[in-house]
Amino acid sequence: MIIAIDGPAASGKGTLGKRLAAHYHFRHLDTGVIYRAVAKALIDAGADPSDEARAVAAAHELDPEKFGHPALKTRAIGEAASVVSAFPGVREALLTFQRQFAAEPPGAVLDGRDIGTVICPNADVKIFVVADPVVRARRRTLEARSRGEDVDEAVVLADILKRDERDRNRPVAPLRAAADAHVLDNSNLDIEAGLMAAIAIVEAMKVARLHK
Ligand code: DC
Repeated sequence: MIIAIDGPAASGKGTLGKRLAAHYHFRHLDTGVIYRAVAKALIDAGADPSDEARAVAAAHELDPEKFGHPALKTRAIGEAASVVSAFPGVREALLTFQRQFAAEPPGAVLDGRDIGTVICPNADVKIFVVADPVVRARRRTLEARSRGEDVDEAVVLADILKRDERDRNRPVAPLRAAADAHVLDNSNLDIEAGLMAAIAIVEAMKVARLHK
């Protein structure tokens, strides 16, 4: 079974993906980390994230062993990831890795922006997570502070809105809900309640499939 979770920055899709995968004993891939790793490779090399040729080259040379690096989670890398992810050549280079990950048994949960629309259009379950931008900024700020980053919530909100705008309006694989996605608004849900809502969606899809 493949579960696709998409949604905007800081919507809670990553945490939900991880918890959902643990619940079903599936593998989990936070695909944002892949674009973040490309961005970090460029920054580490002193290159500009808007340098398309270098971004595409970095995407081809990516080392999945480095996806766990804590520096990938910073705001600056997230912003640069949004820039590199708009390049078609970068997305193309990362497609096979994501599809192979999804296809391996016993099942997988992938979260990102285009999982239900481009990477796994035939996913068994598609969930599109949304949350009020103010709530997302609050959560991201607390998360960054817990890592020791000194952040201003108003700046985080402005970043989130800018990133939403860029991710939604890029010509290639823009952030949008697939036609058959279930929208889950987690503005007012804590992690546990969000997980329960997602499990209810998955279970309903399993029952629906039995009756097809
Ligand atoms: O989910 P995140 O904040 O870690 O993602 C960082 C950036 O990567 C995001 O702004 C857009 C890009 N991204 C993407 O284009 N497609 C994905 N499937 C996941 C992330």
